[in-house]
Amino acid sequence: MQIERDEVSGQNTTGHEWDGIKELDTPIPKTVILAYILTILYSVGYWILYPAWPYIDDFTRGLTNYSSRETVLVQLAEANSLQTDRNQHLLDRPINELAEDPSIRDQYETSTNVLYADNCAACHGQNLKGQKGFPDLTDASWLWSGTPEEIELTIQFGINSGHDEERFAEMAAFGRDNILDKDQISSVIEYILSLSGQDHDKKNASLGAPLFIENCATCHGEDGKGGPEVGAPDLTDRNWIYGGDSSSLRETIWNGRKGEMPAWDQRLTPTEIRKLALFVYWKSRDQRK
Ligand code: HEC
Ligand code: HEC
Repeated sequence: MQIERDEVSGQNTTGHEWDGIKELDTPIPKTVILAYILTILYSVGYWILYPAWPYIDDFTRGLTNYSSRETVLVQLAEANSLQTDRNQHLLDRPINELAEDPSIRDQYETSTNVLYADNCAACHGQNLKGQKGFPDLTDASWLWSGTPEEIELTIQFGINSGHDEERFAEMAAFGRDNILDKDQISSVIEYILSLSGQDHDKKNASLGAPLFIENCATCHGEDGKGGPEVGAPDLTDRNWIYGGDSSSLRETIWNGRKGEMPAWDQRLTPTEIRKLALFVYWKSRDQRK
């Protein structure tokens, strides 16, 4: 290893040589060294000021006590309150009036789609058509009344939700609780099949009719068209929540049903609930046209 002076640049070489190529011993430029020192100072300063080092179940907070999570939460809260304020006017007019105002629909329908998808679609389906156990929100048959006002109440307080102001709806377990015996239930099933225009055994259905009046009509109505005061569905249409074939009917009547719709008044703002009620109302009205 031989250090020598390079004639062209006037620098010494390092003495390393690879296949005749020699390396100049050029010092690192001062600006680079300065930048290097600055980055080290910057990182030390950062460690002191900001959260940096993990402990086993915590981390150093830094002098500024900065938290990006809290910053985001604050920004979200600000955005939310702005949003709420901008929609506040929705609460100033009766919902039934808003429902018939085309400019309100133009303004809110599309954005409410997202709110619906996030909160409701898991149970009622993206197209509002429901699924077994979860009612179709677009058909003409409502468990409760389908006015915008009533829809809003349902969303606010839920059904069998445990909320103090919940809507309570329970279909009794006529078989399990020995209110009706097997044969009587079979007759009632034939009667419901007849009410909903399906194939049925005429003789058995006629035995079921008085049993229906005696046991079921208080809630479902004498004509079976439902009782919106108690959330009892129309049994004469083909819009079933749990199924209208005889085995589903047997399951419903034997074991009873008690569907649960969560209350949203703690999870969504009053304006969001209002927008959802309008949204459901508009969609269901469209489907019925
Ligand atoms: C966890 C599932 C679930 C979620 C989420 C849910 N629902 Fe429901 N909803 C139900 C069930 C179940 C019923 C029927 C209750 C019954 O059988 O009595 C219902 C009933 C309703 C009704 C009454 C329908 C009628 O015929 O009167 C409306 C309106 C409704 N839901 C709207 C909504 C809206 C809007 C959302 C979103 C904010 C939502 N639901 C979220 C389960 C749900
Ligand atoms: C105390 C009121 C009440 C009485 C009495 C009652 N029901 Fe119901 N029934 C309901 C309610 C409320 C529901 C909706 C339950 C739910 O959605 O979870 C329901 C649901 C049903 C369903 C399911 C409909 C569907 O869309 O899937 C059938 C079928 C039914 N009842 C038949 C009967 C028959 C038959 C009788 C008499 C033997 C009867 N009910 C008596 C309140 C009642």
